[in-house]
Amino acid sequence: MSIATLTVKLQIVRLLDRRMSSAVTCLLKCRAESIKFFNGRRQEIEDAETEKSLRIAANHLVNETSPIAFPTETVYGLGANALNEHAVAQIFKAKGRPADNPLIVHISSLEMLSRLVPENFQMPPIYTILINKFWPGPLSLLFPSNPVTVPSIVTANHSTVAVRMPSSPVARALINFADTPLAAPSANSSGSPSPTRADHVYRDLNGKIPYILDSGPCSIGLESTVADGLSDPSCVNILRPGGITVEDIESCLHEAGSTIKIRVHRRDYQDENMEQAPTTPGMKYRHYSPRVPVFLFMAPSTLQSKKLESYEDIIESLLHTNSPRKSNLAIGLLLAEDSKYANPPHHPSIIWHHYSLGKLDDVDVMASRLFDGLLTLEERQVDLIFAESIEETKMGLAFMNRLTKAATEIHWMR
Ligand code: TXA
Ligand code: MG
Repeated sequence: MSIATLTVKLQIVRLLDRRMSSAVTCLLKCRAESIKFFNGRRQEIEDAETEKSLRIAANHLVNETSPIAFPTETVYGLGANALNEHAVAQIFKAKGRPADNPLIVHISSLEMLSRLVPENFQMPPIYTILINKFWPGPLSLLFPSNPVTVPSIVTANHSTVAVRMPSSPVARALINFADTPLAAPSANSSGSPSPTRADHVYRDLNGKIPYILDSGPCSIGLESTVADGLSDPSCVNILRPGGITVEDIESCLHEAGSTIKIRVHRRDYQDENMEQAPTTPGMKYRHYSPRVPVFLFMAPSTLQSKKLESYEDIIESLLHTNSPRKSNLAIGLLLAEDSKYANPPHHPSIIWHHYSLGKLDDVDVMASRLFDGLLTLEERQVDLIFAESIEETKMGLAFMNRLTKAATEIHWMR
């Protein structure tokens, strides 16, 4: 084929690509199990459709500026070339994201990390321990940003850049093909629950982005843990609990003989500057909220002096204030199947919609279903969602972090 013909063909592909980016969103199927990695980086893709999907998406990321959605092990991300400020600006536009909320940059190798940090950067020993144990995986770490390579739009003008290496084979293969770090927030309109399946992304962003890589549900279902080991040499601050638990980080540091402490923001320390600048999700802006109100049921605590309520009290008060009066109220129950609230009292004016979070003793499964539950009940057009608090240990900490931010009312139960 002559160079001229090739150029014309490429132009036609780009024109089609551009037309698509403004009109319809195309789902590209990927089979994660068909992707194999050797020595960390070299990859082989056995399934032809998966390879084609990844190449279309990667070509788009390299040649165009509109973002595309892709799966990670945590939630679906909305990715663009992190080193191209015009491409990153399109992420903010598609999500309606406030410009002062920085993005996480996704890499597939440590060599890519070196493109993001200053040339003289020395890896802190604590980061070496954490990276060896948890990368690739759902842990985002703050690094000093290289202002020459990382556009300030990515970091919202902060001196640090949050970086993670996803373990999802589709995400890693996509970054490898594009050969550039990808800035990627969760692939949802700002303020909504994060998407854990391609159809969540499609319902939210159809027509705003050209492609969604679809490899089925995300295994973890809540976002990565965001950790800062730079600000204070004696501790690692957890800015957002997530897919790597605080207990896992503590036992990793213990095994490595480190005396560095782990502190969880708001649980173990307060940072007024951080409260003002929204450097971690849900602090300044509405977050994880479905379009319907969420009532959070809390177990009675010896410390609180709030009025205790029963299921019947809540229902009566709802029906009393139900205005404009509807003949029936549809209430979604986002609960474990063995929750004490899973068998609500019968009432002729209430239609119950059950979404099971699994069993109370399997908190990983509960966490993986939380966002899907909020989005599924929202799609079923319930008027209200009831959910309950769980113990804030292991993945329960991240679960409760998201659920309390999604909740519109808290009810202390008898
Ligand atoms: O699992 C995840 O982390 C997903 C997937 C797609 O990787 N991404 C994700 O991104 O949750 P996003 O944008 O929805 O949440 C990342 C949060 C931001 O809200 C931001 O506040 C915090 O990480 N963050 C990013 N850069 C930061 C920085 N330089 N300093 C402090 N916090 C930062
Ligand atoms: Mg998000």
